[in-house]
Amino acid sequence: MSDFVSGFWNIYVSGLVIVSIVACLVLLIMTGKAKAMTSHDNTTGHVWDGDLREMNNPLPRWWSYLFVITVVFSFGYLALYPGLGSYPGMLGWTSEGLHQSEVKEGDLQTAPVYARFANMTPEEIAKDPAAMAIGERLFSNNCAQCHASDAHGQKGFPNLADNDWLGAGTPDYIMQTVMNGRQGNMPPMVAAVGTQDDVKNVANYVLTLSPGGRKIADTARAELGKEKFLTVCAACHGPDGKGMAAIGSANLTDDIWLHGFGEKAIMDMVNNGKVNVMPPQGKLLTPLQVKVLASYVWGLSHKS
Ligand code: HEC
Ligand code: HEC
Repeated sequence: MSDFVSGFWNIYVSGLVIVSIVACLVLLIMTGKAKAMTSHDNTTGHVWDGDLREMNNPLPRWWSYLFVITVVFSFGYLALYPGLGSYPGMLGWTSEGLHQSEVKEGDLQTAPVYARFANMTPEEIAKDPAAMAIGERLFSNNCAQCHASDAHGQKGFPNLADNDWLGAGTPDYIMQTVMNGRQGNMPPMVAAVGTQDDVKNVANYVLTLSPGGRKIADTARAELGKEKFLTVCAACHGPDGKGMAAIGSANLTDDIWLHGFGEKAIMDMVNNGKVNVMPPQGKLLTPLQVKVLASYVWGLSHKS
């Protein structure tokens, strides 16, 4: 249960806990014995509102015992539950274990809801309004933080609603992506391209591949950059720049820019490359939840 990296903190925390408890006990005993200075009539000498006198009566016995009981309780608690440094407690309770068992219970409760999706194809699920409503909730809880709640994504996080995919884009592909995550990897290519002037030329050639880019491309530079594109970039992006689903190399001809549009953004890609990671999400979801979620995502760009 413990995340301590050095044994010192374990001892430090355990020591602090025990010393504090013992100090409470000592304080109890000391204050229990000490007699306050009182006058002969057992008052402390404090007077309020004219004649309200503070007496010096001891706490009721049962009340002082309560203090002792809390101390005894704390030792019992620390023996059973984690609390003393990295000591896990006799019951082996962990907040993670509690969470897991609650998740399991929740999964069992929702299992009947999902059962009917087991024999449906993703295409059928995507047409089922109830399933799409569930998919939408799963998406807000698990995917929206990166892909935005409308699935339109943001810079670096692909739009999942536009039927433009780095990979295959099938329901099966989406399921695999959710379960295992994915990694887009373009190495820095500046060494293969040459000088910054060459990089600028190749970037302008890339711009000429898409309708939007053609409007701003420097055609003279593009002409100079074409050769480099075909020898260096085409290996991954294809000679036509349309990308390859198998390696997730982006389509450079469709006016959809995951990492930004324009000469500078493309030059940055060539100079620095990009490792773009989606962490696996499968552990957080049951297989049927993954299926409904993938069908929902697929359905976003396949509305009939
Ligand atoms: C921590 C951020 C993060 C979360 C959470 C996340 N994703 Fe992703 N996702 C990414 C990134 C980054 C990529 C792009 C990876 C790349 O460039 O190859 C991606 C890519 C994808 C792709 C591939 C897109 C394509 O064009 O081929 C799919 C499908 C996808 N995510 C679905 C999901 C779903 C469904 C969820 C919710 C279960 C989810 N993602 C949660 C960051 C995230
Ligand atoms: C080893 C394979 C590989 C080579 C070589 C390569 N790329 Fe890439 N490129 C990729 C991958 C993979 C991605 C997608 C990265 C991601 O998923 O985020 C990408 C993404 C890009 C993007 C971003 C597209 C967007 O939508 O924002 C640009 C621009 C780009 N490449 C340009 C180039 C240019 C120009 C060259 C040649 C100098 C080149 N690439 C060479 C693999 C490659």
